[in-house]
Amino acid sequence: MIRYSRVIGTGGYLPEEIRTNEEISKTVDTSDSWIYERTGIKSRRIAGPNESAASMAEIAARQAIEAADCDPETIDLIIVATGTPDHVYPSTGCLLQQRLGIKNAAAFDVQAACSGSIFALNIADQYIKSGAAKKVLIVGTEVCSRIVDWTDRGTCILFGDGAGAILLGASEQAGVLSTHIHSDGEFKDLLYCPNPQAATDTNKSELGFISMRGNEVFKVAVNTLGRIVDETLEANKMNKSDIDWLVPHQANIRIIMATAKKLKMSMNQVVVTLENQGNTSSASVLLAFNEAIRDGRIKRGQVVLLEAFGAGFTWGSALIKY
Ligand code: COA
Repeated sequence: MIRYSRVIGTGGYLPEEIRTNEEISKTVDTSDSWIYERTGIKSRRIAGPNESAASMAEIAARQAIEAADCDPETIDLIIVATGTPDHVYPSTGCLLQQRLGIKNAAAFDVQAACSGSIFALNIADQYIKSGAAKKVLIVGTEVCSRIVDWTDRGTCILFGDGAGAILLGASEQAGVLSTHIHSDGEFKDLLYCPNPQAATDTNKSELGFISMRGNEVFKVAVNTLGRIVDETLEANKMNKSDIDWLVPHQANIRIIMATAKKLKMSMNQVVVTLENQGNTSSASVLLAFNEAIRDGRIKRGQVVLLEAFGAGFTWGSALIKY
């Protein structure tokens, strides 16, 4: 008997405040047309003063649990992907566990920047396939707005806040077909966010904001995501035409279009949320997946390719029969 992990529920949360390109152009030298043409982004959501990675994760997780019609006590494991945790420790996973009142689960965080939710999916899938867990809650949650330097026009235009969740359950029916994750720390200086409190004397003066060489990141992202698409198809002995939906990390519409082109997919088969959400880092793929499931685009039995790329660099994919 083959044991699969299957998606049994999804959820998502976006904070109320909308910050448009026009608003950003009032504080840095940019414009709505520049941002939209180069990135595909028009606005992003910003967490309220009393919201955090954990509070947003709770809302997304509760939705996923409700969609799965599942007793929270049957969840064995909670994995939270975040680069903006409420605390250094306890993990946001533990904070979420406490908020959900789930006693019998282990909980921890995964830090793989924008690829975090794919890394979390990879881990969850191994736990379920091996029989070590039966139900795993995965949440990607980010308050990127708090690690963005709002005076840096190269980065502040890109990011937004939000949380997405998936509940995976063990099943004999096909679900997650394969996951693939990679890292290359050689690229550590192209995209990073320092932690001044834990830094050495030489780096202590750096502020805890995102620093990025956007153009170089862009090029590596396009090449790398092209390669992971090939790797995923090969591993499953599938053709491009076998994929019904692409759910990409929402960093830049031009990166997304390059991956769609590589797959010979029409943009009608690509879930795009970044226009009104920006890049929500580890939340982005899960938010997009949840949106397309809830609005009826992604249907049971369809094959969905999730992919992401982020600081590290890290990158990964998950092929899912929904
Ligand atoms: N408004 C107006 N001009 C801007 C700008 C902004 N918000 N940001 C940068 N510029 C300027 C630059 O200063 C530069 O000016 P110069 O030619 O006078 O030096 C010019 O625009 C071109 O800069 P460049 O960085 O080459 O632009 P780009 O076409 O690469 O677009 C990004 C910049 C950030 C939109 C793009 O590189 C990108 O999206 N990269 C990927 C980032 C990403 O996905 N990161 C997350 C990965 S998970």
